[in-house]
Amino acid sequence: MKPAVIAGARPNFVKVGPLLKALRRAGIDPKLVHTGQHYDEAMSASFFTDLDIQNPDANLGIGSGSHAHQTAAVMDAFDQWLNNNDIDTVIVVGDVNSTLACTLVAVKRGLPVAHVEAGLRSGDRTMPEEINRILVDSVADWLLTPSADADENLRNEGAHASRIQRVGNIMVDSLFDARGRRPEVTTIDRLGLTDQPYALMTLHRAALVDDQIKLAEVITAMNTLSETLPVVFPVHPRTASMMSDLGVALSSRFHLTAPLTYLDFVASQAGAAIVLTDSGGVQEETTCLGVRCLTLRESTERPVTVTHGTNEVVGVNPQFALERALARLTEPVSDRRPELWDGNTADRVVAALQTRPQFQ
Ligand code: UD1
Repeated sequence: MKPAVIAGARPNFVKVGPLLKALRRAGIDPKLVHTGQHYDEAMSASFFTDLDIQNPDANLGIGSGSHAHQTAAVMDAFDQWLNNNDIDTVIVVGDVNSTLACTLVAVKRGLPVAHVEAGLRSGDRTMPEEINRILVDSVADWLLTPSADADENLRNEGAHASRIQRVGNIMVDSLFDARGRRPEVTTIDRLGLTDQPYALMTLHRAALVDDQIKLAEVITAMNTLSETLPVVFPVHPRTASMMSDLGVALSSRFHLTAPLTYLDFVASQAGAAIVLTDSGGVQEETTCLGVRCLTLRESTERPVTVTHGTNEVVGVNPQFALERALARLTEPVSDRRPELWDGNTADRVVAALQTRPQFQ
């Protein structure tokens, strides 16, 4: 097998790290293509260091832009790269624009595609990632899923049984490895919050942060939460550009920071009393770490974190989110974990790739 593994944005790096290592353990020499969708030190390079990811064989240097521009630019650049490289399989992860773009290019060239993290559905087609998920899964050969609900979604959409294989959650492979590699001094230490209860928050979804009124309401509610327990808020670049003009006076217990490196962020989650987020990956990581999570969205594509984990989807009514945050602090934390979220998913992905599924 001569695979190209695609990574474009921050959550992808966490997934390809263990996968590239497992491929090499199996005697396969994967080529890593970084599309350049994320390009900053904080959003990209620091993850390569923390996760010990091989240098990319190609960086397509796409950068930011509209969905159409980003997707089209990745397609064109990846197509040209394939002209000059001997690749027989393309492996994509997650649901970002780079995942969709490279999938489309590969299938049109007749190359088989494996999708790691297949089958997740929020049911909300206004989310760009939902469209990416549906399209990628409709044409990828291997649909490698993290959980039973994902298998069911794919079966309901008519995917042939041989294409669906449950392998578990590959982010957990990185997470388990990271738990033993805590930075000497973390952001939480620097903020003087070590051994104190604190809340950790992340927000980056366009549906929430691109709407200044909604964002201001959420920030105001979290400012109130910080009166009870300090709030640490690493700010994604998308959110940072909306934060400057909100007109909310933040309490000194509401700590805004730059995006954290992977190891620092895992340590921050592990020590938090509660995490508030609109991220997908953070819902999964908190479940594995046994940390309470509130998801500030109307839906989740990761329902297993609610049924078998620590997550609660509270919607975007900031007052309700605040009430739930305060209530959850006194409620016990679930110790259930989803099946196959055990740190060995990358090896199961490689095993699954040994047999090519029947498409129909
Ligand atoms: C993308 C993914 C989203 C994922 C998120 C993780 C899609 C549709 N969305 O959203 O699913 O959860 O990544 O972060 O693919 N920027 C920088 N530096 C960077 C990258 C981006 O400053 O290295 C800024 C740019 O101003 C850019 C904005 O962040 O316009 C948003 O980046 P973009 O890649 O468009 O989407 P994300 O919101 O990060």
